[in-house]
Amino acid sequence: MPRSWSTIEEFERFLDGGGIVEVDDDMPLDYRKAVFRFIELHANSELMGGLAEREWTPRTPGLRHKMAVLAKTQDEIGHAHMLYMVAADMGLKSRREMIEDLLAGRSRFHEVSGSRARTWGDQVAVSFLVDAVALAGQQAVFKNCSYGPYKRALKRIIAEEGFHMRLGEHRVQRIAEGTDKQRAMFQQSIDDWWWPALQFFGPDSAPDDVLVRWHITSGANEELRQQWVQKFVPMLRGYGFTVPDPGLRQDPETGRWIAGPIDWESSEHALSGDGSGSAGRIGDAAGNRQRTAWVRRAMERGAQEPIVGSAAPG
Ligand SMILES: [Fe+2]
Ligand SMILES: [Fe+2]
Repeated sequence: MPRSWSTIEEFERFLDGGGIVEVDDDMPLDYRKAVFRFIELHANSELMGGLAEREWTPRTPGLRHKMAVLAKTQDEIGHAHMLYMVAADMGLKSRREMIEDLLAGRSRFHEVSGSRARTWGDQVAVSFLVDAVALAGQQAVFKNCSYGPYKRALKRIIAEEGFHMRLGEHRVQRIAEGTDKQRAMFQQSIDDWWWPALQFFGPDSAPDDVLVRWHITSGANEELRQQWVQKFVPMLRGYGFTVPDPGLRQDPETGRWIAGPIDWESSEHALSGDGSGSAGRIGDAAGNRQRTAWVRRAMERGAQEPIVGSAAPG
């Protein structure tokens, strides 16, 4: 039975009490819009991540790893479509409009998901370091999320992202056992991607941010960043690599790793790059969509018109 709330205060008390909003509920319009925008951004980022992954099919070394890339690409595109459906059900924009907006450059995505990996070392670093940031963020959203359909979709997505994490770890193991040249290549990639990964968590959200107030995200990014540092510093050092942070130190009492300050100025630069990677992928996808438009037209017509001669044999 759909629920409704007479005031925003009443709605917020419901959320603060751990209430979960469902698609048929008469939710406040601002909440609907905020959740919708958040899911659309997530969906776009999954799609862009899938398109970036796909480019590595021919460049990935070895058949087993190529098969893993294909599976991962399929997962990411699947995540995008699952999220587009959840977002479309909110009634603000159709799935088609969301995809068309993305391909026309009218909507946003996390720029890091469209980053260009230049070498196999970069690709390993991204799948090891940056994917872990995305997963930590999704887990934090899942824990807090007040919108039921998104929470349930996240549960499935997170399970698959766990496999992607394992793949990243496996790739690092292999490259760590490699030749001096391979290790040097990977060290260079760690140097290039360490800071963008830390920056990808973003600053903490202000407590009056509606995304925090309405339990869409926790906004406690600093805490997530610290947890990530505790995991990845010892891992990389264990494999004999160095962490490119001159300010990094370990608390002698607790053993906790403390990262040096983040230079947010350089983040804009590192994450946005020249945009050519994303622009090219969007251009390719838009071209493919145009070339396959006849299939969608035929499907739509098929759905409207009775199919001639389809009567079952008597
Ligand atoms: Fe994903
Ligand atoms: Fe993934």
